[in-house]
Amino acid sequence: MEADVGQLAYTEDCAVLGNGTLMPLAGFGTWELRGGACSDLVSLALRLGGRHIDTPRMYGNEEAVGLGIRKSGVPREKIFLTTKLMDSGGFRNSLRDIGDSLRKLGTDYVDLLLLHEPYGGKYEIYRAMEQALEDGRARAIGVSNFNLQALGEFSSRVRVMPMADQVEAHVLLQREEFARRLISAGIAPVAWSPLGGGGAGIPSNPLLAEIGRAHGKSAAQTALRFLTEEGFAVIPRTSDPGRIKENHEILDFTLGSEEMERIRELDCGRSLFGWAEAYV
Ligand SMILES: NC(=O)c1ccc[n+]([C@@H]2O[C@H](COP(=O)([O-])OP(=O)(O)OC[C@H]3O[C@@H](n4cnc5c(N)ncnc54)[C@H](OP(=O)(O)O)[C@@H]3O)[C@@H](O)[C@H]2O)c1
Repeated sequence: MEADVGQLAYTEDCAVLGNGTLMPLAGFGTWELRGGACSDLVSLALRLGGRHIDTPRMYGNEEAVGLGIRKSGVPREKIFLTTKLMDSGGFRNSLRDIGDSLRKLGTDYVDLLLLHEPYGGKYEIYRAMEQALEDGRARAIGVSNFNLQALGEFSSRVRVMPMADQVEAHVLLQREEFARRLISAGIAPVAWSPLGGGGAGIPSNPLLAEIGRAHGKSAAQTALRFLTEEGFAVIPRTSDPGRIKENHEILDFTLGSEEMERIRELDCGRSLFGWAEAYV
């Protein structure tokens, strides 16, 4: 993948996507959240100052996410909303899916529209996404689960360079080289499962707890801050109202270079999820 728009820029709390769209670095993920509980958590995340909400069509919770956004009372233009398309067979069906997602989310546009995986029909789906970008139904477009090789091939064949790539990344799978290459090509890396999905012990890791303590932060906050210092936006998910605030307060401290080096030693370089191994 060749540098196209130049090095990715950042503000204090956002990545500046290729067309100038600001993507908040601290987001909120919605996997496994459904119905009223999902709406309540999305609404609370926004009322507590969160501004970046992540969902895909795949989870079937876009209506609940949309309701949560409206319930929060936070103006739509202050919110960065991502959804992701699956492969439903060709350009026209993908255009229909975009309309369907917007209807379910109760909005005229999403801030970031992603292609969920490198599907066989990816070029047709992406053409529909490029059209959504042109007609204003998506502020920015990008991909998810594309590794460096897949992203390089894809970028050389599409008209609009993907502006973000959302991939598995956490302290156990740090993807330092991936982030560095994307940033130098002007593409924003976004980390999914930034706390390892809950089963890998990241929020109770003793090294992260020790480093966090020196900053008055938890191990989870330290894990998320590490990723943002590496240039990733993060979209942790929690069903615990207290942790929503905790996961949002990650940009008001800085890890020193020695602390970053110690955390780098946690890297195992492997996916925690069987289905995602092929995408690393
Ligand atoms: N693009 C893709 O293919 C893809 C794939 C997977 C995920 N995603 C996105 O990434 C988001 C995040 O990934 P994820 O949901 O797999 O997992 P995650 O955010 O890495 O971890 C969630 C787990 O961590 C716990 N947790 C959250 N905050 C915590 C804290 N401060 N202290 C201690 N524990 C904490 C949660 O438990 P509690 O609820 O009890 O707090 C939950 O068990 C998803 O929700 C989804 O939006 C995208």
